[in-house]
Amino acid sequence: MKKYLVIGNPIEHSLSPKLHNRWIRENNIDAIYDKKQLNESDIEEIVDEVKKGGVDGINVTVPFKKSVIPFLDQLTPLAKEVQSVNTIFKKDNKIIGDNTDIGGFEKGLKYINYNLKNKNVFILGAGGVASSIILALKRLEAAKIILSNRTKKKADDLKKKYTDLEIIDWGETPDFNVIINATSLGLKTDDQIKLNYGDIGSNKLFYDIIYNPSKTKFLSKAEQFGNQIENGKMMFIYQAQLAFRIWHNILPKIDNKLLDL
Ligand code: ATR
Repeated sequence: MKKYLVIGNPIEHSLSPKLHNRWIRENNIDAIYDKKQLNESDIEEIVDEVKKGGVDGINVTVPFKKSVIPFLDQLTPLAKEVQSVNTIFKKDNKIIGDNTDIGGFEKGLKYINYNLKNKNVFILGAGGVASSIILALKRLEAAKIILSNRTKKKADDLKKKYTDLEIIDWGETPDFNVIINATSLGLKTDDQIKLNYGDIGSNKLFYDIIYNPSKTKFLSKAEQFGNQIENGKMMFIYQAQLAFRIWHNILPKIDNKLLDL
């Protein structure tokens, strides 16, 4: 029986096992997908398990998408470009890191028929997932990307790579068409992001990478002010679908029954 894992810390909230095990059953694959909470010091050992064949594939989530990289033999071009890995597999005895967050984000926007071309996008956060979003936005031909992070140094580091990013101070609000919460603020239900909703106006797209809880304060307040809102559920499902294809060579079905789960 093949064995797959999602690693992170915390990991309790992850719905990946539920999703992958459902697709494994549907496709009659002899495999199991589990979750494992780790510390940074355990990463090397778990990657080694893939080398030895005890584990067949790993999904990586918060906060290890970058820290896993030194233990891998190779990165796919996408993972290398954004320096962020969420899917690990073995090929020709090499442990390879890939990134399906980029594709997941793109497909998530396509699902709601949102055309990003020529839009001004404001990203909150500069953690592990921010670089994947920046690359996706560029591929979708956003006109301008503005980014703000509590720790400005991390935003400035991103600008070294993506020189046309506009960095603004945490707490400032620019003019935008789309705002994306790529911070972990909102995972706890009383988390707030300071934004002057009254000044922002209406009819913007508020997108939260968080999918659990399904409506963060960031989204519910935006909705009250007449904006379109979207959580990270579809991005989550699509990144999982793409990871499933990497491991099993099958693109699993996303139907209404699955979406209702
Ligand atoms: P991930 O790799 O999954 O993105 P991360 O690297 O820990 O996780 O990033 C979390 C993001 O949420 C960061 O942008 C972080 O800001 P800092 O770089 O200043 O740490 C942001 N974040 C977390 N808690 C926050 C808070 N209380 N206020 C503002 N930003 C916060």
